[in-house]
Amino acid sequence: MATERLRVFSGIQPTAGSFHLGNYLGAVRQWVGLQETHDAVYSVVDLHAATIPQDPAALRESSRLAAAQLLGAGLDPDRCTLCIQSHVPEHTQLAWVINCLTGFGEAARMTQFKDKSAKQGTDATTVGLFTYPMLMAADILLYHTRQVPVGEDQRQHIELTRDVAQRFNARYGETFTLPGAYILKETAKIQDLQDPAVKMSKSASSAKGIVWLMDEPKTSAKKFRSAVTDTGTEVRYDRAAKPGVSNLLAIYSALTGLTVEELEQKFEGRLYGALKTEVADVFTEWVAPFRARTQQFLDDPAELDRLLARGAEKARAMAAPTLDAVYERVGFLPPAR
Ligand code: TYM
Repeated sequence: MATERLRVFSGIQPTAGSFHLGNYLGAVRQWVGLQETHDAVYSVVDLHAATIPQDPAALRESSRLAAAQLLGAGLDPDRCTLCIQSHVPEHTQLAWVINCLTGFGEAARMTQFKDKSAKQGTDATTVGLFTYPMLMAADILLYHTRQVPVGEDQRQHIELTRDVAQRFNARYGETFTLPGAYILKETAKIQDLQDPAVKMSKSASSAKGIVWLMDEPKTSAKKFRSAVTDTGTEVRYDRAAKPGVSNLLAIYSALTGLTVEELEQKFEGRLYGALKTEVADVFTEWVAPFRARTQQFLDDPAELDRLLARGAEKARAMAAPTLDAVYERVGFLPPAR
């Protein structure tokens, strides 16, 4: 008898056009590995992207580009389910139920919301941004997800997801599976190359510290070579004392499979400059085929849309029974058939 594979689900926003290296190392790289061992469902979360203003044409393009990058990174539509979130209406339908189960104070404690709304001011902050974590909970719970591969910044949202799932189950009977975060320590938080005290993020104040996968490799190589490192000269992994060097070692290790210890040995007696140059080379070598594969998918938008339509169909077949069960338990009168 075939053993049943555990379900994983994760999502990525189609904002900013290109993914950055933090998205790839923190999340997407794990997604690719997990499709071999798990029953994997992945989504380009365009509804989440709409929580901040988007140009309609650019959003459509970014969604295709996001899907193409996921395929370029190695997702295989025959081994996983890949869909666009807005193609699966069950996400928003379940999100409403989750909204009605979540306390206002509980949602207001989400640090990502607090940070973003503090930066933007309350008038520029949408109610959609406030309910972002509940839509994310719906994404996860719809598929009876066991593990959610993400970067460290999503941990709190997954804890909220567990809390509301438990609340629903206690109130209406066992319905949802409790998910856990799948976070790899080494790449959970890729830092900004210019300011290694903060995570690499599309909202960074300077473009110099952020590595976009779809940029010309030469541009990114230059960013690696001018990365801010630390005082001292020894190439050693120490997140507290040497955040810049440690970040470069983590990136190097993730892209090559060499362990941090092996890298420390390799760079013994060599200076930071050597490390920066080699990371630039390693990245360039990795990114060139990634970009070529992504471009192939972009060159055939009809085929890409067909793959995404098939993904949505597969996703809906999994999501619909969960939503039906939830609606029934909550007490919504089913329409006569
Ligand atoms: P998004 O698009 O902001 O980020 C996508 C993934 O990239 C990870 N990430 C990082 N990992 C390491 N270092 C970094 N500097 C870094 N920056 C970003 C994020 O942790 C994320 O895993 N809210 C989600 C999208 C989402 C989702 C979901 C995820 C919507 N629904 C359901 C899981 C399950 C997000 O942050 O997307």
